Amino acid sequence: MKKIADYFITLEGRLENGGIVTELPYDDVMQLVNEPNVVIVKNIFPADALQQVIDATLAWSKQEPLRQEPDDFMSNAHKHRLHISNIQQAPQLFHDHTFENIPALQPDLQQTLLSVFGPMNRFWNRLTNNDVPLGRRAEGEPYFHPQITHYPLGGSFFGRHWHPLNPQQVGLILALNQYGKDYHSGGTGYVINDTIIETEGHQNAGDMILFRYDLPHWVSPSSFADRFSWDDPKGRWVAIIPFYNPWGIPAPSEEPQGWKTQIATADLQPEAV
Ligand SMILES: [Fe+2]
Repeated sequence: MKKIADYFITLEGRLENGGIVTELPYDDVMQLVNEPNVVIVKNIFPADALQQVIDATLAWSKQEPLRQEPDDFMSNAHKHRLHISNIQQAPQLFHDHTFENIPALQPDLQQTLLSVFGPMNRFWNRLTNNDVPLGRRAEGEPYFHPQITHYPLGGSFFGRHWHPLNPQQVGLILALNQYGKDYHSGGTGYVINDTIIETEGHQNAGDMILFRYDLPHWVSPSSFADRFSWDDPKGRWVAIIPFYNPWGIPAPSEEPQGWKTQIATADLQPEAV
């Protein structure tokens, strides 16, 4: 365990029998997340395997038309996100690929995607003491929305926003490529007790950020010195597994802080779903 700055910790990690393990037991990791701290678990996946995930996602997106209509939260789709969200008024510009129905994909693409989403799914279950598989569940219940997000060069970003703590509890962001090589700017930032934590430059390919899900967070912009193009695959790529009921109550428009009050009164016990 290494302290990078206030509220910012890294842990060594590895992949073992298809599961993600860290240098600390899962309960201790969740305690660090809930205190709260931004935790980066280092060196989980090898970079070459993650490049395959990017390449397979790109190949799929080239033969799949961009979705123009609203999300249905049931099918595989990719979309240019370029708007200001209704409730939180968070501006955003990125390209997401949401795999809501992995069994409907070609078997080789399924296998490639599950090489990251499988371990991420099992890791989330271990951290939160749940046993929820990927895929749709009974009506009204939350389910996973595996997503590969591309932040192109030249001005992509995601403005400050937050989520309800439950049912997700802990957000997972896996870096699929390398800062300083594949992209030179942009990363996820957080605020804890009036302290800004910028992870830009601290997350290598194969590292995974863990964060308490109701922390305000954002993605800082890729440099405007580069030329922007939706068609250029350069830029930051990440994998995430949001867990929510898309027809449930959206996050409130007010930020869930003053943080100090929120954290002091928060129920830190993991909630089964
Ligand atoms: Fe978010």
